[in-house]
Amino acid sequence: MNGPLRYQSGFGNEFATEAVEGALPRGRNSPQRAPFDLYAELVSGTAFTAPRAENRRSWLYRRRPSVVAAAYRPYEQPHWLSGAQQAMRSGGVLPPEPLRWAPFELPSAPLDFVDGLRTVAANGDVEMHTGIAAHVYLFNRPMAKRALVNADGEMLLVPQQGRLAIRTELGVLEVKPGEIALLPRGMLFRVDGLDGPSRGYVCENHGAPFRLPELGPIGSNGLANARDFLAPVAAYEDAADVACEVVKRFGGRLWHTTLAYSPFDVVAWHGSLSPLKYDTANFMTIGSISFDHPDPSIFTVLTSPSDTPGTANCDFVIFPPRWLVAEDTFRPPWYHRNLMSEFMGLVLGRYDAKPEGFRPGGASLHNGMVPHGPDAQAFEKASSAPLAPHKLDDTLAFMFESRYRFIPTAFALHGGSLDSAYADCWGGLQDKFVERRGA
Ligand code: FE2
Repeated sequence: MNGPLRYQSGFGNEFATEAVEGALPRGRNSPQRAPFDLYAELVSGTAFTAPRAENRRSWLYRRRPSVVAAAYRPYEQPHWLSGAQQAMRSGGVLPPEPLRWAPFELPSAPLDFVDGLRTVAANGDVEMHTGIAAHVYLFNRPMAKRALVNADGEMLLVPQQGRLAIRTELGVLEVKPGEIALLPRGMLFRVDGLDGPSRGYVCENHGAPFRLPELGPIGSNGLANARDFLAPVAAYEDAADVACEVVKRFGGRLWHTTLAYSPFDVVAWHGSLSPLKYDTANFMTIGSISFDHPDPSIFTVLTSPSDTPGTANCDFVIFPPRWLVAEDTFRPPWYHRNLMSEFMGLVLGRYDAKPEGFRPGGASLHNGMVPHGPDAQAFEKASSAPLAPHKLDDTLAFMFESRYRFIPTAFALHGGSLDSAYADCWGGLQDKFVERRGA
């Protein structure tokens, strides 16, 4: 990784890239002998027959096909959980009230990305291709000669502290806080920190792959624009004879094996299935320029639809810097309870509905039909604030919103970060109603 990395742009584009000129076959995918005697390998992220607009697949040209591997053995990492059942079995329960966590602490013992993953809450069922898991990663050492592959879902990484270098089969991404990385199901990768101890959030999506939301009356531009998603260019690791441990997430548990060589040996690839990164600073926000606070779905970056139209397996939503200008309007989010369940995190700054207790590196959980909204302090301030145009700056909150309720894990409930006084933030809301009878 010398010099600035190069990228190709466009969500779901038909990319074509070769690290060695001439390595990509022209005009066909599987010639009798591929250039440089590389092996052709197809990776499909959707069913072969998925509709064209949703179909994702890429052709990889590599030094050895990825089928060449020894037997896998179980790998113990008890803090990575998948699906509602595992979260329950870990000692998790489904409390009916709102939950909030202080920033999750970085480890003192040496841990890499794999061993430093901690599941905060999970829902759905891996085998049914439903739901997500909300994890945090807390690590302080590189994965070195290891690679991770997740057959159970794609991984959406939201760095909160420290830049990440992510080597993938298809090339290298560098991702900093404020940016996100989307790593397809079944594709190998390695995550290392560039700035020392690293903390961030992960959405492990067992459902339909994330895609850009439809824009409806917004039109053909706005929110996250397709061209701002960046894919890596082909880059193979020159470690032909260096052994590599492959850790595989498969069926809700981890396995590992040792390869005699680096699996990052793809010399050229083309197709629409690729790792991507996206800078949330490029998100074009939409809000009211008259009155009322629109539904937060206006902040959807990516969506994983379910079989029920409009009811997502998961929406990835951000609350970035933006102007508030609405007239005669309570400007923070209103009090509400929804069918959908909301796991939130904060990358930087403050969140306008919870200016104090919700801190970068922490999280909150408001499950379906659990009431929530601005804390007493935010309510009082917003109810009497002069309604001049106001810029919310230096802030980035996000939400993994799902139709399925999240089960907080034993780590979440007993790991030391749970804010047992969360509900107190609404305790100061007064009954100010004065009934006026007659004249
Ligand atoms: Fe909410």
